[in-house]
Amino acid sequence: MSGESTSERLVELAKRRGYFSQSSGAYGGVGGFYTFGPQGASLKRNLEDAWRERYAVGEGHMEIDAPTIMPEPVFEASGHLDGFDDMLIECPECGASSRADHLVEDNTDYEDAESLPIPEVEGIVAEYELACPECGAGLAGVAVENFNLMFDTNIGPGDAQPGYMRPETAQGIFVEFPRLKEYARNQLPFGVTQIGRAYRNEISPRRSIIRTREFTQAELELFIDPEGDEPDLGAVADVPVTLYPATEQNAEDGGEVETTIGEALEAGTIADAWIAYFLGISREWYEAVGVDMDRFRFRQHLAGERAHYAADCWDAESEIDGNWIEMAGFAHRGDYDLSNHGDHSGERFTVFRQYDEPKTVERATVDPDMSYLGPEFGGDAGAVVAELEALAERDRAAFDGEAVEVDLEGETHEIPVETCGFSVDEETIAGEHITPEVVEPSFGVDRLVYTVLDHAYREDEVDGEERTYLTLDPEVAPTFVGVFPLQNDEELEAVAEDIAADLRAEGMAVTYDDSGAIGRRYRRQDEVGTPFCVTVDYETIEGEGTTVTVRERDSTAQKRLPVAELPETLASLRAGEVDFAGLEG
Ligand code: GAP
Repeated sequence: MSGESTSERLVELAKRRGYFSQSSGAYGGVGGFYTFGPQGASLKRNLEDAWRERYAVGEGHMEIDAPTIMPEPVFEASGHLDGFDDMLIECPECGASSRADHLVEDNTDYEDAESLPIPEVEGIVAEYELACPECGAGLAGVAVENFNLMFDTNIGPGDAQPGYMRPETAQGIFVEFPRLKEYARNQLPFGVTQIGRAYRNEISPRRSIIRTREFTQAELELFIDPEGDEPDLGAVADVPVTLYPATEQNAEDGGEVETTIGEALEAGTIADAWIAYFLGISREWYEAVGVDMDRFRFRQHLAGERAHYAADCWDAESEIDGNWIEMAGFAHRGDYDLSNHGDHSGERFTVFRQYDEPKTVERATVDPDMSYLGPEFGGDAGAVVAELEALAERDRAAFDGEAVEVDLEGETHEIPVETCGFSVDEETIAGEHITPEVVEPSFGVDRLVYTVLDHAYREDEVDGEERTYLTLDPEVAPTFVGVFPLQNDEELEAVAEDIAADLRAEGMAVTYDDSGAIGRRYRRQDEVGTPFCVTVDYETIEGEGTTVTVRERDSTAQKRLPVAELPETLASLRAGEVDFAGLEG
């Protein structure tokens, strides 16, 4: 086999066999944008469907489909306009842009440069005499700048409204919260999912579909009552996990910890029960779709690494060519998003929490005498009333003296207390408005596609010939079965075409192939990961109790199976109800 890395061979296979390739190739291609070909689009769709089955349908959550362009105020509120930056360093010689934190991490012992302040990163670049990865020019003394990752655009002609391509699908869910809570009948907890595109103007997109500028996320925003909602921990307590907690990353001889979700919660390694729940179900889901559990772990974010909205965060990571890549993030976002959208929009981003029993509370109110405030404050009288109301709620003692002090546009005014109509009354209330907190599993679909392909990639030798094959799980493989006539013969072709049609009618993804030697046709299907091939030969049309040859991809073992039972047998193989080796034939 060649000396290339698995990734290099995989990327070449992906292009040749229609998994993915850089888009707009006819125009020289553009960094960070990829097109999924026929196989890739199908694999990606199957993985998205599997995600939907588990996280939306399986958990009983809703799914929405929101626009990818959103107006500027959304991102003022979400904090992306101010805080969604990466560190940019531009080479003064060739103009190449690089991520300063990546340069530092790739060329020094610093592991978490993203969390360092810019002057410190500039200092490290100078101290280690780091150079431009494109032309080799020294970068010492070059300024590092914050670069906002959002793509901006204009909405409409003329005095256009500024807009941005969403950098995470999550914001499309948060802004719809006032309606979504109605659909959920104001009952917490409830979850909303979305699978869709997100956009980030990455400074240096790299490693094919692992870091791109347009990618697909599958996100679940779970809205919980911080004081009441608990997950079903019994369902995940025994799930085994490899964890790499922050404490281990900070320790000199720290390492990964093999444990179970239940033990990790008890030991406090995972602090939050909901995060623990999602790590548990996700570990099982990743395994089911074909991620190699010997090359998988959950790593906790270090304090400086967390996104601006996250209180705690764990990543699901897969090992690719000796490096760990982040496939998903599991973040506790607290009430950050809903509070900010509530404050910025003026709409209610809260849920009414009903008490078990109505409560009697004291409420301080004002009923100002407008015949005094009107002549005294003119147009500002309304603002004075609003200030008095707010003051009554937050500081009753302010009404103890003879005059109440009110600040209006930087000036303090004294209002005689007898004109305020201040009183404290008892009131019976049924509940209160609370801002739910959010727990968010956020999956990158493109990185999942890459990992599933990389972990399925195999090379071996069959009949003295090198073979490349992908051990894709039958539930996610883009093509489930290849159907071939052994030779170019009208009779064989007609039977093979009928079999292909029958299998398609059963909902199987079928490829019909009648070109080239049979061995080459098998190799083609092996390379795209097709789990089974069916070959129609002369025995099929001449023999009694018509049979075909069925070949299994991984073992290359072949069996003769009755045509009449083919749809049922293949369906059982796909569902994992039977094992090919155990079939009679
Ligand atoms: N809503 C939370 C959020 O967006 P994130 O960790 O920034 O969190 C979630 O992104 C996932 O999206 C990542 O774990 C990764 O799989 C994927 N992702 C992020 N940036 C990406 C990029 N430039 N290219 C491909 N996938 C990316």
